[in-house]
Amino acid sequence: MKKSEKLIVGNWKLNPTSKETAKKTFLSIRKKLAKIRKSKVVICPPFPYLSLLQPLVKGKIILGAQNVFWENEGAFTGEVGSKILKNVGVTYVIIGHSERRALGETNEIVNQKIKIALKDGLKVILCVGERERDTHGEYLQFLSSQIKQSLDKVQKKSLENVIVAYEPVWAIGKSDSEAITGASLHEMVLFVKKVVSDVYGYSAGMSMAVLYGGSVSPRNAEDILGKGEVDGLLVGRQSLEPEGFGEILSIAEKL
Ligand code: PGA
Repeated sequence: MKKSEKLIVGNWKLNPTSKETAKKTFLSIRKKLAKIRKSKVVICPPFPYLSLLQPLVKGKIILGAQNVFWENEGAFTGEVGSKILKNVGVTYVIIGHSERRALGETNEIVNQKIKIALKDGLKVILCVGERERDTHGEYLQFLSSQIKQSLDKVQKKSLENVIVAYEPVWAIGKSDSEAITGASLHEMVLFVKKVVSDVYGYSAGMSMAVLYGGSVSPRNAEDILGKGEVDGLLVGRQSLEPEGFGEILSIAEKL
């Protein structure tokens, strides 16, 4: 990723409940992108909407998935593999979101998913983040293990297709005033890069793209993107609101 280019990812989670709304929201966001030069937008809708939205993909808006399975075919009821995702036009996949980890996804599972997704040519957005902070800094150790275990045996040359999304769980789904501050985020971005450097070497660590997610809104986006020095954002609720999402894009454009 070029330094000035921002990646703004919209994670729709389990929304919206109708395909008509999905299409309308996607098209409204696409329209907002007409004046955007510096950002790329990845919309991650629920699986069934991927094929529906694929024909609407144009310019700087592309498709991502919210999850992937660690096998490509076979007797795995209810799962979706990376070959299917690639085949229906998906470019990015979110792996290890805290809401999936809360359903039992471990670092080991996340690692298997990352490896197959990379092998099949998807770009991976690896979500990491502590549930809470303690005064002794143990959360840093937790974060470091999450990153190292999730990337276990991922080859250095594949890292250009991995983006780390730092999403502290305590900041997700809150009011925008409860999101992290830009200054504090900057420390975490450096920490993530340092952990990656420890495993893959300095230049690989420093060039790792890092996104922030957790209650991003038009009110805090400037501080988060500017002072936080992140390469982009992972936006939940606001990505279902084309007006607010458009404002976030305009802020990213001006920085
Ligand atoms: P939020 O979600 O923006 O609604 O806090 C972010 C996320 O969970 O990715």
